[in-house]
Amino acid sequence: MNLIEFLNASPVNYLAVATLEEELQAAGFYKFDPTKPMPDVKPGDNLYVTKNDSSLYAIRLGSLPLAESGIRLICAHCDSPTFRIKPNPEILMEKGFVKLNVELYGGAIMSTWFDRPLSLAGRVMLRTSDPLHPQTRLLHIKEPILIIPNLAIHFNRQVNDGVKLSKQKDMLPILGVIGDQLSANGLLLGLIASQLDVAPEEILDFDLYLYDTTPACEVGLHKEFISAGRLDDLSMVHAGLQAMLGTQYDEAKSRQIQGQTMVLAIFDNEETGSGTKQGAGSPFLAQLLQRLVIAQDRFLGLVSDPHDDFYRMIENSFMVSADNAHAWHPNYGEKMDPTNHPVLGGGPIIKVNAAQKYATDADGAAVFGEICSRAGVPYQRFVNHSDIAGGSTLGNILTSSLPFRGVDMGNGVWGMHSIRETGSVTDQEYVIKAFTEFYWG
Ligand code: CO
Repeated sequence: MNLIEFLNASPVNYLAVATLEEELQAAGFYKFDPTKPMPDVKPGDNLYVTKNDSSLYAIRLGSLPLAESGIRLICAHCDSPTFRIKPNPEILMEKGFVKLNVELYGGAIMSTWFDRPLSLAGRVMLRTSDPLHPQTRLLHIKEPILIIPNLAIHFNRQVNDGVKLSKQKDMLPILGVIGDQLSANGLLLGLIASQLDVAPEEILDFDLYLYDTTPACEVGLHKEFISAGRLDDLSMVHAGLQAMLGTQYDEAKSRQIQGQTMVLAIFDNEETGSGTKQGAGSPFLAQLLQRLVIAQDRFLGLVSDPHDDFYRMIENSFMVSADNAHAWHPNYGEKMDPTNHPVLGGGPIIKVNAAQKYATDADGAAVFGEICSRAGVPYQRFVNHSDIAGGSTLGNILTSSLPFRGVDMGNGVWGMHSIRETGSVTDQEYVIKAFTEFYWG
């Protein structure tokens, strides 16, 4: 699956995880249910586990004991800035116009959401006989059903001088017109019910988000750019998956059992600080790795202390935390650091920050740079202009509980957190090569 297909199939976090599951299952990975005892794991096993339907952890087990080889970890995130549908969202206006009440998720550039054909995607919880275990159904309404119309320039002559937007007033999407009905209550539930072919009474709750129905595409004189929603961070998710599946290799080599164990961790909720059970701040990955070490020790008949083996595994591991970076923008060169101008098409970008907002240090950068060189891939460095505060990412949050050596990196984009971001076709090829070298080399 190429990046454009991957992006179009993955309008929100839940659907991104579903897309990953399909690809992993097609490649022979089996799903481990974390409520069950950890199965025996042997060299060459390919498994994955999901948490909350919105984060995913895939593992290719190597032949060496984890205590000695550590893991090679690539992590990325599957959530992107958007708008979440609030409970009881219908607002009936004059003449039967209905809009939906929404709440901002993450740090979107809100103005880019105006005048787009929008739709809904996410998950819906359905009633079962067991109140503690409702059924989860994914929802991906592919038709455009919503729009957030701009205000005409005639009502705001200063619009091109910058506009202050209210999340609560300006950003509510219009759903349609219902004539002279007295209430719009239940309109959305009815729509969801018909999409899922269930009765509205069976719907207990939902996590639904807006997305732009305009598909991803290539753009530029030589089609050198990709224009798409959610490049941050689905482009890194896609690259990590391609590397784990070994798609750069021929069939035979990608089926060989490697010494080292490869792990791909796709977290949710990076855009809101990672502090959830499915985010990078969760102990879930550490607990999973601990279970893996114990299960592998058992299979290999090792008599060493599995706790000690777990800590040795951490010390022998390396993390590549992959999240998009800012590429030099031809219209805003002054925003960049004076001596570091990473560009689109120039290869993966290592992110460095003196205040340690990025996990990169000289050791991590040295390792990742060498991996790129071995893969025949150029690489670049990003550091903030000293008067401009930058963003944060996954690496430091994860290494505060799993103190891996590692690097924060990502491909460059323009317009990060716009409804459509712009990336580079070549950079995607480069980063897949670099990740493949990291896992398999
Ligand atoms: Co990101």
